[in-house]
Amino acid sequence: MNNFEFKNPTKIIFGKDTIKQLETEIPKNAKVLLLYGGGSIKKNGIYDQVKKALANIELVEFGGIPANPEYATLMEALKVVKEENITYLLAVGGGSVIDGTKFLSAAAVFDGETPWDILTKNIRTEKGMPFGTVLTLPATGSEMNSGAVITRRETKEKLAMGGPGLFPQFSILDPQVIASIPKRQLANGIADAFTHVLEQYMTYPVGAMLQDRFAESILQTLIKVAPKVLKDPTNYKAAANFMWSCTMALNGLIQKGVPTDWAVHAMGHELTALFGIDHARTLAIIAPSHYKYNFDTKKAKLARYADRVWKIKKGSKDDKAYDAIEKTVDFFHKLGIDTKLSNYTDDYEGTAEEIAKRFTDRGWLGLGEHQNLSPDKVKEIVKMSY
Ligand code: NZQ
Ligand code: ZN
Repeated sequence: MNNFEFKNPTKIIFGKDTIKQLETEIPKNAKVLLLYGGGSIKKNGIYDQVKKALANIELVEFGGIPANPEYATLMEALKVVKEENITYLLAVGGGSVIDGTKFLSAAAVFDGETPWDILTKNIRTEKGMPFGTVLTLPATGSEMNSGAVITRRETKEKLAMGGPGLFPQFSILDPQVIASIPKRQLANGIADAFTHVLEQYMTYPVGAMLQDRFAESILQTLIKVAPKVLKDPTNYKAAANFMWSCTMALNGLIQKGVPTDWAVHAMGHELTALFGIDHARTLAIIAPSHYKYNFDTKKAKLARYADRVWKIKKGSKDDKAYDAIEKTVDFFHKLGIDTKLSNYTDDYEGTAEEIAKRFTDRGWLGLGEHQNLSPDKVKEIVKMSY
């Protein structure tokens, strides 16, 4: 096992009817900016619950943060933060609203010229404006980590940011919010969380027995609850297990002491930036080709995954490893998620070259757990995903 440090300061408040606890989590003297997305919270009752809990707190609102939170929209929100002398941010939404709020938390204290530099120059936020979240869509784990991904339509870019100052102070996870999520977003959430685990597991063995078993148990839980959640999102038991799995998949715990990959996400983000494909679907497009292309260096873990997660007991190590990739593709298909770029766009020719060029320009010359996935290899993997 590799050396590691682990600190996660986010307080999780999990369970039925917990949104009302907002009242005691936000400092009484705070001036709060309530941030939300396209309006789903106004239809499903979450907005009313939040407003009721915050009846005695000074509140300003900013709605309309789109999926794949858009820089231009967030800059409008930043104006509100400054003009209204906001002291506390509250995200009520999925990964997009939470990530947008993290950007604002960083931008509010940023003393440079253009906040976009936070993303392009990898400026880590040591201390941001304090914020909390009410999670409405289990998927990204953003509710308990310190990372964010921001999109800029103008330049067709989607870049990551983070830092120890960007953990939410608290996150409220009431699994009942799942009842109103459309099937497509539920499937996305399952696929995203599943791939988060794979990015931190499908590397090479370092004797980290507990981390491996944590990872496998999250994958097994997601496989088990996926059909139940899709069939009936009001099934509380399934919803609760789904929600907690998504948080545990990316709160930092399972990646401690082990190598991590994250190349699937790096390539996937480009497909969202170029074609607007949902984040989770880009991962389902890239992951199978990535594992096939890097078969030799990943096959020890692939074979273990075959055995532990998919219960494939027969065949050689290579056979098992290969079968596990096929099982993963089948899992995505069962969620209703297509796994080829050509299923999403006819305009895919040249995509591999474009992504390889972008990575070269950014100096991303060696991705993955061995830091040897060069833009040339990225090009091959993206081509295999057409
Ligand atoms: O905008 P509204 O109207 O609220 O509708 C949203 C949105 O259209 C809807 N929704 C959310 N909760 C709902 C609901 N509809 C009905 N009932 C509810 N309870 O779902 C749609 C998608 O929401 P979004 O927040 O975009 O989804 P998700 O949570 O999947 O977030 C995706 C974003 O997170 C980033 C992705 O790149 C993408 O930009 N990620 C963030 C990560 C992180 N911070 O750690 C890691 C991930 O790998 C990922 O990159
Ligand atoms: Zn993801």
